[in-house]
Parts: sequence; C-alpha cells; structure tokens
Amino acid sequence: MSADLILYNIGELFCPIDNNEPLRGQAMNTAKIMHNAYIAIKAGKIQAIGEGEVPESLISNETQKRDLSGLTVTPGLIDSHTHLVHGGSRENEFSMKLNGVSYLDILAAGGGILSTVNATKTSTFDELYTKAKKSLDTMLIHGTTTVEAKSGYGLEWETEEKQLKVAKKLNEDHPVEVVSTFMGAHAIPTQLKENPEEFIKELTEFMIPEVSKHSLAEFCDVFCEHGVFSVEQTRTILKCAKENNLKIKIHADEIVSLGGAELAAEMGAHSAEHLMAASDEGISLMAKNNVIANLLPGTTFSLMKTSYADARKMIENNLAVALSTDYNPGSCPTENIQLIMQLGSLAMKMSPIEVFNAVTINGAHSLGRGHETGSFEVGKNADIVVFDAPNIDYILYHFGVNHVKEVYKNGNLVVQ
Ligand code: NIG
Ligand code: FE
Repeated sequence: MSADLILYNIGELFCPIDNNEPLRGQAMNTAKIMHNAYIAIKAGKIQAIGEGEVPESLISNETQKRDLSGLTVTPGLIDSHTHLVHGGSRENEFSMKLNGVSYLDILAAGGGILSTVNATKTSTFDELYTKAKKSLDTMLIHGTTTVEAKSGYGLEWETEEKQLKVAKKLNEDHPVEVVSTFMGAHAIPTQLKENPEEFIKELTEFMIPEVSKHSLAEFCDVFCEHGVFSVEQTRTILKCAKENNLKIKIHADEIVSLGGAELAAEMGAHSAEHLMAASDEGISLMAKNNVIANLLPGTTFSLMKTSYADARKMIENNLAVALSTDYNPGSCPTENIQLIMQLGSLAMKMSPIEVFNAVTINGAHSLGRGHETGSFEVGKNADIVVFDAPNIDYILYHFGVNHVKEVYKNGNLVVQ
C-alpha cells in the first residue's frame, strides 16, 4: 500500500533500538544510525523505514514527498518530567539565590513552591491554560512531542483538580501529548506545617482515590526530601497510590541523600527523579528493580550546584537513564529540552547516542508509552523531529540554540 508521506534522502537517521523495555547500561550507547534514509508514513503511523532508494510500492500519485538531504532526523523527543501547569514565575527569588540563600531555606521560609501555590490558587482555569499552552508551544518548537505534567501547586483538592483538568484539556487540544501525574505531595501546606499527618490523611483518604476515580492522572509522585516528605511518609502515600492503580514516581535524593532511591527500588517505582545525591546502594538497588533514573541536569544548573547526578556511574551500574527538563518556575524555568540534552553531554559526560536514547525510547518507557512512541518501529506513532544539523553530535556540540527545523506529530507537520 502506498504511503501518505515519505521523508527521503535523510542525511542522518537516528533509530533507537526497541526491545520493548528501556535501554540499560551499555545498551544505552547503541542505536541504528542510517544515512541517505527514508521513512514512510501511513495514517499517522510509521509504515516503513530504510536506507537508499524508496521502494516503488510505497509511492503513488497521492504520496507527498519531502527531500531531507543534509538534515538529521530522530523520533519526537519525550520530556518525561515537568511541572507544566502553574501560575506565576519566581524571578523575585533570583537575587536571593545569587546571594547564596538555598532552595530549601526559601521553601522553609514560606517562599519557593509555596509562593507558586498561592499564584496557582488565584489563577483561573483559563489563565493556567493559556500560560501552560504557551509553554507547550515552546516545548514543541524545541522538538518535544510528548510531555509529562505534574500537579502539586494546589496542596488542596480544588486547585489540584484545576491543574489536572487544565493538563487534560491541553492533551485534547494541543499536538503535544500530555501525560498527567498527581503530585499533591509536593510540599506541606502552610496551615498544616505543624500537622503534616493531617495532610497525608487528606491525600490518602480523599485526593488519591478521587484522582483515580475520575482518571485525572496515570502517575503519582512525591517530593521525598529533608524538610518535605520523609521516606516513611512517602511510602505511605505511594502505597495508597498503588492501591488506587496509579503508577508511581519519586522526587528522590535531589538535595539530601535521604534514601529515596532505595525506596523507589523497594516500591517498584516506574522512575526515580533527580538523584543528584543518590547513594551507591540506592543506584544498585534501582538497577536490580528496573527503576528508570530520570535525570534533570537543568535543575542542577539553575540551582547553581556543581554536583550533577552521576550519570556515568548509573550507566556503569546497568541503570536505564532518561533526561527531562523538570520545567517549573523555581528550580528549572526552561522548556528547552535541547539545552538539557546538551547539559547531559557537557556536564554529565553522556555520549550523544546515550543522550538521544534518554529522551526518546527511555523517556517513552518512563511514561509507559514505550509501545507507541520513542522509536521508529513500524506501527508506532509517526512522531518525528527534523534537525537542521548534519549529525546528532552537532546538535549537542553546537549548544544554546534551537536546531529544530520541522516536527511531525502522528504524521502531521506541526512545526515548520
Ligand atoms: O522538581 N523538587 C521539587 N519540585 C520541583 C521544583 C518545584 C518548584 O520549585 O516550584 C523540582 O525541582
Ligand atoms: Fe520536579
């Protein structure tokens, strides 16, 4: 059967290897790289892929063709950790941070996440929608075709629900697919500062069952951190999430080595996020229990820290690594996944192949989307990025600019 669209003469085509599971350890540095390649698309799906001449059988009078000589093509990029929907911004904390006041001290003083909670509570649905849509547009022009969106700037039901409903509506309206995570356990609300157990009760007895009942999220995440949720409290919340059929993620060992990585392994989390301070024991337990390490070097950079998550050690210990922006108004105000990929190489010494696998096939698996996107298997969604670059190395080496020329989502040209 002939194709709807054929991209041909592709200078370099990056094809992640799809084994129906994330790529771990040394396998992260493997990929099929084709030259003078083609991709045929039918009904929004990958129909065929190969090198050299396009087979005649794929071409009819109706088939559209695009010559991509000299350009590089990869699967649509997956940003599998963001706090997409929120009110306001926090540049008012910038000079404090530049003067050395720490992220956790700002939070403990009632600023940080808690100040975004106020801004989100006072924003209407439409205001949140318009702001998040603008961010999604920015993500898309940088090559992101699937994104995760966490709630967590309400800390009470009405606002958490508003955030989740905004994400759901954006998923319906926008070309970028939005996967929702409930993160009510993002901070302790100011009024329950002295009584966090009351808030945990609210989360487990009401909010999590409500999220599940109305299918408002697929995942549940907790900020397991010194002065936020302890390992014990995180375990209680995530146990409840599992009982309510939500898949789990943990903001683990971001700032203090608390045992978040160990907990992610114990609970069979889908992924553990940040891991800048993860212990060796935590890393090896995560590898044994197939937990994906979702690393967020933009946060390390923006918090002006020098201790990036040890991606090399994690890969040597057979972990699967994903990379994401962590886009949020406090610790990483950027939507640009290419910058994060460049930090993956420049600051964490990941090879270009490892970086592209981290934001394609491994990103897809960290969102439970490995069967439909993240690589060029026949039948998968035709989510495709065309870079104005001769090869993948160039995209990471020539940093700080946007190399995207075109983006296709489900076979539709959505950026040109
Ligand atoms: O992933 N660490 C907790 N949550 C976010 C930051 C949210 C914020 O500062 O608004 C993070 O870094
Ligand atoms: Fe985060």
